[in-house]
Amino acid sequence: MRIIRSVPAMAAWSGALHREGVAIGLVSTMGALHAGHRALIRRARLSCDAVVVSLFVNPRQFGSGEDFFRYPRQARADAALCRTEGVDVLFMPSREAMYQRGFQTSVAVRNLARRWEGERRPGHFDGVATVVTKLLSLVRPGTAFFGQKDFQQSVLVRRLVEDLNLGADIVVCPTVRDHDGLALSSRNQYLTPPQRRAAPVLYEALQAGRTAILRGIRFGLEVTGAMRKVIATEPRMRVDYLAVCNPETLEPLARVTKTAVLLGAARLGRVRLIDNLVVKM
Ligand code: PAF
Repeated sequence: MRIIRSVPAMAAWSGALHREGVAIGLVSTMGALHAGHRALIRRARLSCDAVVVSLFVNPRQFGSGEDFFRYPRQARADAALCRTEGVDVLFMPSREAMYQRGFQTSVAVRNLARRWEGERRPGHFDGVATVVTKLLSLVRPGTAFFGQKDFQQSVLVRRLVEDLNLGADIVVCPTVRDHDGLALSSRNQYLTPPQRRAAPVLYEALQAGRTAILRGIRFGLEVTGAMRKVIATEPRMRVDYLAVCNPETLEPLARVTKTAVLLGAARLGRVRLIDNLVVKM
């Protein structure tokens, strides 16, 4: 496996492979890799000739009071996982390499970034859209792989790629969960043991929402009510939002008539969890 840190070296590597017609797959990450990332890498290896993993804790997608400085950084372990998984290139640029002196361009996706995570984390999706645009332009993958865990991000990235003609197929892979249903996330490391025991309640709430829909409840408000009831069983958990939405526009649904996505975010102490479930009728 080759580790590339410089932007020109990354561009040169992908340019050369492009000329040879090699199909490149990109898994973009912020590191602290876990089984969810491993599944993305494996999926990429199945359908691409060469796999690039990017590891960059992107300062532009963190708000001022957020966890940029304490975000888990474990580059050696991440490199070892990538090597074991047969990754061809681990791209680990510095902040200065990605945002060179004088950098002042930003990519903003409008409506899709307005609600949910976008509302609670102002500027977050501009940071995501900007860095994803840069990574796709540099690595020029035929396919880029994202986790469903960040549902809003995946919808927004699809839109971005289409709007800016970035020319990559976007594959969204299922959320990988722990034995008790908790969606894997690099931030799960922040949970204390009691918080970790309480954390699966968010997924249980989403499951209750799905059960309600499958049993014939159609009003969005009733479905969110069913989810809230489950969250209320865990006094340590504070709901940020629970919503029943159109999976393409992410607008809330007053009535569920076909496929819906249940979106949830909640806090346990200072740790914020997000999760989602797609319900097909
Ligand atoms: O999902 C993530 O880890 C990040 O938002 C991403 C896509 C790597 C952009 O920094």
